Amino acid sequence: MPSIIVHGGAGAYEPGKEHERGLLAAVDAAWVLLESGGSAADAVEAAIVMMEDDPIFNAGLGSSLNLEGVVECDASIMLSDYSAGAVAALKAAKNPIRAARLVMERTDHVLLAGEGADSFARKMGLPSGDLRTERRIELHRKNLRTFRDGGEIKFMPNLRGLADEMGIGTVGAAAMDAEGRLAAGTSTGGMMMKVPGRVGDGAVIGAGTYASPHAAASATGHGEAIMRHLVAKGAVGAAGDIGVREAVESALEIGRFHGFGFGMVGVEENGATALGFATQAMSWAERTDDGRRTFLE
Ligand code: GLY
Repeated sequence: MPSIIVHGGAGAYEPGKEHERGLLAAVDAAWVLLESGGSAADAVEAAIVMMEDDPIFNAGLGSSLNLEGVVECDASIMLSDYSAGAVAALKAAKNPIRAARLVMERTDHVLLAGEGADSFARKMGLPSGDLRTERRIELHRKNLRTFRDGGEIKFMPNLRGLADEMGIGTVGAAAMDAEGRLAAGTSTGGMMMKVPGRVGDGAVIGAGTYASPHAAASATGHGEAIMRHLVAKGAVGAAGDIGVREAVESALEIGRFHGFGFGMVGVEENGATALGFATQAMSWAERTDDGRRTFLE
């Protein structure tokens, strides 16, 4: 039997019913495909597209804004045959995860960034638009007021604190299909008030997303720390020996030891799902053989 697990971000926030609705819509969209023989890659893409289109999450429409008030999205996808694709600092494509999958399937590359990534997405016929929402624009105005110090914006020392305080809201998914293929994907607007051009773990294979024949995982949290410790790669690598549940737990221990919080969802070759977080909260949902479950149950 196939399985799918998704997250809507780990951080210092209180996820509620609206997050649950978005996450269930994501797992349901993926499940329809998985039940009818669709691939794990199709399921992960479909789930993440649903969340990118839902402005409650920090991905696609509703992405957080950088210091200049501009959206720069990161996304990545990886399959159990080690194929992978990613985009970084994408400004206009509505569904960055679709662009990441096209990088994987239509190019010989793994990661496209900036204008090149947007131009590639346009050439592939992906819809684009203004991904800023009123809520994000208002928050950005407020942040600018908070961060101005004698006319200068004092952003660098405060980014970590801002991320911890306001949650990050990256989305991600991991799935196994009926043929036992695995996939994981991650998509995010990244940290709000980030320096323009900053790329986070959501675009970095091994950091936010990783997959092998044994397991697949997507991470969420403080991107810089996740990149330094390549947490998705670490958990997927360990899963082959100790199982995905224990592997996620031991990845979280590394985070606790080094003093950073993050969350993760994963799936392994027998279809078992795993989740964990070392932050105030993480919203998640899954659909497996045993039915649907969410963070509110
Ligand atoms: N984990 C999302 C980011 O830091 O960009």
